[in-house]
Amino acid sequence: MADLRVPALRWAEPPHGPVLVLLDQTRLPAEEAEYVCTDVPALVAAIQSLVVRGAPLLGIAGAYGVALAAARGYDVPEAARLLAEARPTAVNLARGVWRAEAAHRAAGGDGPAAAEAALAEARALHREETEASDRMAALGAELLAELLPGGGYRLLTHCNTGALVSGGNGTAFAVVAAAHRAGELRRLWVDETRPLLQGARLTAYEAAREEMPYAVLADAAAGSLFAAGEVDAVLIGADRIAADGSVANKVGSYPLAVLAGHHGVPFVVVAPVSTVDRETVDGRGIRIEERPGHEVTEIRPGAPVTPVGALAYNPAFDVTPPELVTAIVTERGVVSPVDRGNLAEVCSRSRST
Ligand code: MRU
Repeated sequence: MADLRVPALRWAEPPHGPVLVLLDQTRLPAEEAEYVCTDVPALVAAIQSLVVRGAPLLGIAGAYGVALAAARGYDVPEAARLLAEARPTAVNLARGVWRAEAAHRAAGGDGPAAAEAALAEARALHREETEASDRMAALGAELLAELLPGGGYRLLTHCNTGALVSGGNGTAFAVVAAAHRAGELRRLWVDETRPLLQGARLTAYEAAREEMPYAVLADAAAGSLFAAGEVDAVLIGADRIAADGSVANKVGSYPLAVLAGHHGVPFVVVAPVSTVDRETVDGRGIRIEERPGHEVTEIRPGAPVTPVGALAYNPAFDVTPPELVTAIVTERGVVSPVDRGNLAEVCSRSRST
């Protein structure tokens, strides 16, 4: 994507000590404001309030969080535990955290050399996710050309999957951007993604910066769009993919998969191998984050739309079973049909394949 003026995340070393600087995604698209973390509690709060969000970026942020704790002389194992538990569904978060913590431990578990090792590991993960994003964009664009040989795609996406969620151009949005650059994107349909509006606020922001032909719709309008034959494929990201190919992603993804299946439209998931959790046997084992009810009962903080005291149901994610997923695009190859064996085979390929 056109570079963000404020990158989604950066490590900085001002004279008063290292900091992790985040682009505050809760304030987009109104302003590109920075959120500066000088300690782990600030980063945990940023993760929980979605200042920083999206599976790959959570992993990167978690790894830098360990580096921050180490550089500032905090208790690294305790910091790692707090960070890893900040949100439960995106497997990348705990993975990134424990990867940096392991590097810190392997380098002695204390002092400047161990802190440097944690930081080097965070930087390596950041680089890897950037490269994975480029590779997924290329593989996803090839897949779209196969699935939709007529070109001129009308693609529907949900939540936010662009440069705001990874080191590179993102996951599903990176594929959309590749199609746009190739002159093949006729329309990007952007689900608003209630309740926190990641689609309306963030994906529309990224699409506008890329000068894409996009339109935002209320989530509930997707059905009539499919019925009118206006969607050629659905492209989404993932927060955790179980060993059987079940995909946890932003709540509202599963209904889209059902609609896509009913209308014979490809439903494509784009996610790095770092999002595949082969220790979780199937979708039933994925822990779904429950978020506070006020996110549903208020249209924005402090603006209720329900009677006082209304209860709310607010799962942040849902799970799409593998039989509804046409393909999973990873940086190591495309899994299709989606099943346990094919997923394991693609994940076991070497990085450069
Ligand atoms: O609650 P969020 O905004 O962190 O949810 C993010 C998503 O569901 C994305 O679609 C997902 O992380 C895949 S993008 C890499």
